[in-house]
Amino acid sequence: EKGSTVSITVVGASGDLAKKKIFPALFALYYEDCLPKHFTVFGYARSKMTDVELRDMVSRTLTCRIDKRENCSEKMDQFLKRCFYHSGQYDSEENFKELAKKMKEQEFEDVPLLMQDGRISNRLFYLSVPPNIFIDVVKCASTSASSANGWTRVIVEKPFGRDFESSAALTRSLKEYLVEDQIFRIDHYLGKELVENLSVLRFSNLIFEPLWSRQYIRNVQFIFSEDFGTEGRGGYFDNYGIIRDIMQNHLLQMLALFAMETPVTLEAEDIRNEKVKVLRSMKPLQLENMVIGQYKGHTKGGVTYPAYTDDKTVPKGSLTPTFAATALFINNARWDGVPFLMKAGKALHTKRAEIRVQFRHVPGNLYNRSFGTDLDRATNELVIRVQPDEAIYLKINNKVPGLGMRLDRSNLNLHYAARYKNEIPDAYERLLLDAIEGERRLFIRSDELDAAWSLFTPLLKEIEEKKIIPEYYPYGSRGPVGAHYLAARYNVRWGDIS
Ligand code: BG6
Repeated sequence: EKGSTVSITVVGASGDLAKKKIFPALFALYYEDCLPKHFTVFGYARSKMTDVELRDMVSRTLTCRIDKRENCSEKMDQFLKRCFYHSGQYDSEENFKELAKKMKEQEFEDVPLLMQDGRISNRLFYLSVPPNIFIDVVKCASTSASSANGWTRVIVEKPFGRDFESSAALTRSLKEYLVEDQIFRIDHYLGKELVENLSVLRFSNLIFEPLWSRQYIRNVQFIFSEDFGTEGRGGYFDNYGIIRDIMQNHLLQMLALFAMETPVTLEAEDIRNEKVKVLRSMKPLQLENMVIGQYKGHTKGGVTYPAYTDDKTVPKGSLTPTFAATALFINNARWDGVPFLMKAGKALHTKRAEIRVQFRHVPGNLYNRSFGTDLDRATNELVIRVQPDEAIYLKINNKVPGLGMRLDRSNLNLHYAARYKNEIPDAYERLLLDAIEGERRLFIRSDELDAAWSLFTPLLKEIEEKKIIPEYYPYGSRGPVGAHYLAARYNVRWGDIS
């Protein structure tokens, strides 16, 4: 709108997330003309830096989403002119007042002073700082730099505590300064293209929704793997572990979207109401259904890969899991008895995130014999490959062309790179844009967060109290063999391995 502006302050501007994700996403939005006409970007952190130095730092990571796009450098210069820096302490109201003053000077920089009356200044703060600083920043920002006549919103990102109690305490403290509507809790997996597409796939295609239940689905798998370890992040990671880092949020969010009932509308509250119902219907997690692992070092092809505990920032003898696999169950009419398997690991053989839906056998399948005894091979499987190389494919049985009658499984394949020219925006672009527009659909509501923590907290405590020893797996391998036994207990094979 002509009469309003938005100032986006990245608190913790010199950190990794800011450099790698937030500034590039803001530039991409600017490049695509998605930012409001009047906007300013402020970096805020303790280190001393000038505006020019900030622009220099930011410019080194900005890329146009497609190489060789037109006007890239021109657009970049224009964008950088709207970027400023203010150095200050995270708990200093004084410093935030100075920031607010600078914001005021820049907000309508191109509008003559006399015409600025009645214009609305909106303020968005991205807290790209460790959670122990959240409250200080929120306190100072809300008392000294919030908008006088528009909205003030705050984006926060996990870790939201370490367990139910600490997360609830954090929420309570945030709510001393903000109302729920001002808090945008990011789970960046919700901003990924294929995760957003989940509901489209399911609710706009007649052939899927009727099959989406225990009647036809045998099991669902949520798989996350990375082919690198925690190098450089060991200090952070050791305090959380893979269950808190990936499962309790990214994978659980995908599960909730996957399994929810049809929302009344596509409005944020309707969707989040359905997701929270799924989370609250889950059976308590059990230790015997959980496999944890940790990667160990080894040498392969002359290259030495470090063990998790080789990281200097990881305490010696740490038992923190870098791999976990579990089976979850949803206690409702749609999903009763269907195992939802999750597997997440670092330092594995590949980088991938996907959802696999394994369907039941065709009853009395005339063609069973064509598959010999391995009936598992004869069932349909829908794979949603969230990344990399985004794709949705359905494994179907098909006759191998020829005079005989031999069947094999082939893929009906929607390969994004082949089908769509437009390249896929980064999750942070979508989430930042939604936060600016006040669209809350992809953000986590506090009751969702509570439900996610209630589910995982007892199990996390048990693992820590009993000092469960992780199963060690070599860096770059397929992970602990225990994950296979877990799946086998439910008569399931991991789709990414079989
Ligand atoms: C973050 C985790 O939330 O997600 C990291 O803290 C992980 O450990 C990252 O590497 C994975 O995100 P993406 O988008 O690269 O799959």
